[in-house]
This record gives sequence, structure tokens and C-alpha cells, in this order.
Amino acid sequence: MKIFLDTANLESIKKFNDMGLLDGITTNPSLMSKEGGNPKDAMEEITKIIQGDVSLEVVSTDYSGMIEEGKRLREYGTNVVVKVPMTPDGLKACKSLSSEGIPVNVTLVFSPNQALLAAKSGAKYVSPFIGRLDDVGQDGMNLIKDIEEIFSNYDFGTEILVASIRHPMHVVDAAKIGADVVTLPPSVLEKMLEHPLTKIGLENFLSDWEKLKSGNPDIKI
Ligand code: E4P
Repeated sequence: MKIFLDTANLESIKKFNDMGLLDGITTNPSLMSKEGGNPKDAMEEITKIIQGDVSLEVVSTDYSGMIEEGKRLREYGTNVVVKVPMTPDGLKACKSLSSEGIPVNVTLVFSPNQALLAAKSGAKYVSPFIGRLDDVGQDGMNLIKDIEEIFSNYDFGTEILVASIRHPMHVVDAAKIGADVVTLPPSVLEKMLEHPLTKIGLENFLSDWEKLKSGNPDIKI
């Protein structure tokens, strides 16, 4: 399963990329706005730091606006995936951009039928938002199971990019289903690294080592 980071925060991107954990990045206008500054600088930097796919989202809602913005976004790098909303114009733009060899991520997917239609339009990725479904009392992970079943029945090359992830168990469940990609807020990836027994275990190893050293101060590994 590929891991993308869902952020426009350069510090987090560098931190987790240096650990070799990142296969790509997803951003959206809200994440850009959260970082402030000029999004152009962020987009330039992110596409340089990350080798894998970087989803950059259009803000136009009409077909020609999306095409124009999509092509401009693609100028940031050959790893740019244009993110379009799951709307009729979004799918039309998806079809045009994909036929020109520009990969597309169809975002704001909330039903199996929307995922099916995005795949038919040639999307490289569909982004079902599971946390937002959980928020309104629907089981987001069921949507991933449904899409996985539908895509595996046919020859769609479209990848399931599980989005709106809120906690580490979402990641475990998505991996068990066999989703292609999860995109994680930095806070979730941080939690996945940790376990209280790892922390306690390391503290014990180090204090035992100090005991050994107190009798032999010259000892070294
Ligand atoms: C995905 O591409 C979206 O940017 C993101 O996962 C949305 O997550 P949220 O529901 O936490 O805003």
C-alpha cells in the first residue's frame, strides 16, 4: 500500500520523506490556505522534494477553467496529478486531461457509483473521503470495501486513494481491504510510529546500559 501525506506543510513533508515513508502528497485548497503564504511557492517546493505523485487541486468549477488550471498546475512538474471535483464538469475535465496523458485524481467521492463513474472517465485515482462519511453517521470503510469489490470485477486501472483519514485504525482497515493508497494527515502518521512499549523498552535498554557502563566507563559499542 502506498502512503501519501495529506498536507502542504513543507516541514512535515521533509521530515517523513527523510524516513523514506512517502510515496506521494495530496493537497487541497483548505490545506494550502492553512499554511498561508503564496501557494505557488509551496507547490514548487513540494514537487521538487517528492519524487512520487503530487496531487494539486483546481479551484475552477467549469470545464474550461479546470482544463486551463490543470495544465498550469502540471507545469510544476511531471509528477503532478491534477485533482478535480466529482462533478459533471470535473469528469469531463478528467476525460480530456487523461487523454492528453495528464493524470487526474477525482476528489470528494462519497459513493460507489461516483467512484465507478470517475474510473470510467479515466481517473488515475479516486479519493473516497471516509472520515467525512463517519462524521455524518455512515460507515466510510464500507465505501472502500464496495469500491475495491467493484474495481476488482473489472479492468479499471484506477487506484483507490483512501482520503479523509482520521486515525491509525483507518489505515489498518484500509490495508486489510487492499486499498492502493492512503493519504494521511501528519498527525496520523506520527501516531502510527509510536507504541508505549517501544518507548518503555528503549528506556529500559538505555538504563541497563548505563548500569553496565558505571562499572566499566571505557565501554563502547
Ligand atoms: C484528500 O485528498 C483530502 O485532501 C483530505 O483527505 C480531506 O480530509 P479531511 O476530511 O480531513 O479534510
